[in-house]
Amino acid sequence: MDDHIADAIGRPDLVRAGDGLVCLRFETMKVVSALAAVEHLLGTGVVRRGDTLLDSSSGIYAYALALACHRHGLRCHIVGSTTVDETLRVQLAVLGARLEQMPPSADLKLDQSRRVRRVREILRDNPGYHWMRQYHDDVHYLGYREVAHRIAGEVDGPVTVVGGVGSGASSGALATYLRDRLPSVELAGVQPFGSVTFGSEHVADPEIIIAGIGSSIPFGNVRHRLYDTIHWIGFEAALAGSVHLLREHAVFAGLSTGAAYLAARWERRLRPDRTVVFVAADTGHRYVGTVFARHAEARPVAGLAPHAVTARDELALPWSRMAWNRASFP
Ligand SMILES: Cc1ncc(COP(=O)(O)O)c(C=O)c1O
Repeated sequence: MDDHIADAIGRPDLVRAGDGLVCLRFETMKVVSALAAVEHLLGTGVVRRGDTLLDSSSGIYAYALALACHRHGLRCHIVGSTTVDETLRVQLAVLGARLEQMPPSADLKLDQSRRVRRVREILRDNPGYHWMRQYHDDVHYLGYREVAHRIAGEVDGPVTVVGGVGSGASSGALATYLRDRLPSVELAGVQPFGSVTFGSEHVADPEIIIAGIGSSIPFGNVRHRLYDTIHWIGFEAALAGSVHLLREHAVFAGLSTGAAYLAARWERRLRPDRTVVFVAADTGHRYVGTVFARHAEARPVAGLAPHAVTARDELALPWSRMAWNRASFP
């Protein structure tokens, strides 16, 4: 039995989703990361019960940090983007977390830099607050160790991990900890078009951005040298993946999962000797109107294939794949 709901929410399921494909399915992925990070900070005396933890978030990290603070008797202050919806806003309020939401902005870069500026102001006025820096502090890798060990214990043979890259902590940590046990593990990262993280800022996606993955500013938690392959996937293709995953495997997950599923199917097709584990970071609830209600217009995934590109200037919608070969960022 768990002592707190955060322990239950943080524990993912491993679910088969087709031949050689395994879905690592979280209800809210970052709970496992925030919990371990907070426990590490408490254990090392960096923070104490009653302290306030501060960070900026576009959604699931806010919830994760609020749960971790609730579990361990800390206060939580979030500078959120407009993507924080009412369901989350109300829960944060009842959980006792303070949310400051930034005004709407169509410009991701403006939104991100505005949030960082506000965080700095809050720190100036409250020097005792601890800034979690989920995008930069590798304390956020720790929680995925146990998840990686579980995968290693349940999946036989060579493994490829496929996951969306936002802060980089989940995919980077899963590959790092898995490789401690299984050095043959390969890692494919999934990006939206327009993201600077692996250099696609010159290709714009005409539809909405995929929440949680990609960035308009560089993140210290992304370790480029862990990635063998990168897929850039546009909204429309991710929608097709999300709808197909629900239709065929009854997994109701978000857009970054749809994109990861599409990439995972492709990796498995190229390397049928491997089991491909793809990350489902959140459930589909936030995407009902923008994604699942549009299920009739979803393109059949069997008809989708990535452009095989060898350089970033060849990147093209709706989907591109490039060997990254564990390079550092040029
Ligand atoms: C829905 C969703 N998918 C994937 C990710 C990427 O996870 P990470 O930040 O560990 O790279 C995030 C992060 O916010 C997310 O919200």
